[in-house]
Amino acid sequence: KEIALGIDIGGTNTVFGLIDREGICIAEGTLPTQKHADVEDYIDELFQAINTEKENLPYDVDIKGIGIGAPNASYYTGTIEDAANLRWKKSIPLAKLVKKRLDVPVYITNDANAAAMGEKVFGAARDMNNFMVITLGTGLGSGIFANGDVLHGHDGFAGEVGHMIVRKSGRECGCGRKGCLETYVSATGVKRSVYKLLARHSGDSELRDIPFNKLTAKMVAEAANRGDEVAKETFTYTATILGEVLANVVAVTSPEAIFLFGGLTKAGNILFDPVRETLEKNLLSIYKNKIRVLPSGLKDNAAVLGSAALVWNKMK
Ligand code: BGC
Ligand code: NA
Ligand code: ZN
Repeated sequence: KEIALGIDIGGTNTVFGLIDREGICIAEGTLPTQKHADVEDYIDELFQAINTEKENLPYDVDIKGIGIGAPNASYYTGTIEDAANLRWKKSIPLAKLVKKRLDVPVYITNDANAAAMGEKVFGAARDMNNFMVITLGTGLGSGIFANGDVLHGHDGFAGEVGHMIVRKSGRECGCGRKGCLETYVSATGVKRSVYKLLARHSGDSELRDIPFNKLTAKMVAEAANRGDEVAKETFTYTATILGEVLANVVAVTSPEAIFLFGGLTKAGNILFDPVRETLEKNLLSIYKNKIRVLPSGLKDNAAVLGSAALVWNKMK
């Protein structure tokens, strides 16, 4: 059976899938992204995991190509440059390193662009020509479809909404600057906000006394859904900042929908409701009551599917 290998490299985990032409995932796996100091050791571990999944299948598969979505990746050069949330700070010739492991066509794109591609080819954006996806994980990624195509930009790095500066002299960002959106709006940003709000509240909170490395955004979401005031306020604070920024970004591409993806979106309405409300409140009148803010329309990882779609699109 002919398949494409789709890989989504995140700041915390890497997810891969063996994907057929219809977008069906026939095998998948996850591994930590940042365990190894050397990127080649990471790629070794990744391919070991892929081969294990492949060998466990009851039939033979023929990998026709590899698509990869990665932070700060350029579609044009196949490299990752200076990623804010990856430990390999220098330039990584990802396409070249991967091709050494398996000599098939390798396509690289930004992880959020891959998610947008997944939604366009297999998901809820199939009939949309202008939409945007925002991925909320370790960092904040954005993939933009405009006039029916994904926006790459001059150098392949278009769509770094996560590093728009939203607070002057604000929180320190992994990119070396201050006040970037992702330092507030991401799983990491949520955790940082919890401590800020805890310091202001004197009352009880189940999040008090949890050390930073033990706290997860999921714990904050669960606490919020149980009614914890600090946790609820954290989500309102986070969603408000996101809604304000989205109202500005909308003015650039006029999307028909904005999809929110990633771990943080499992929080559900405590995130989506205030994002929608703040977005509407801040939109220019010509955009009002037109833009839908939606969860992913895919059951499987959109970036893995979108990465695989890069392979299939080239083979048409
Ligand atoms: C990177 C983006 C990436 C996002 C999500 C950001 O820090 O700059 O390229 O899409 O994280 O991984
Ligand atoms: Na992007
Ligand atoms: Zn930044």
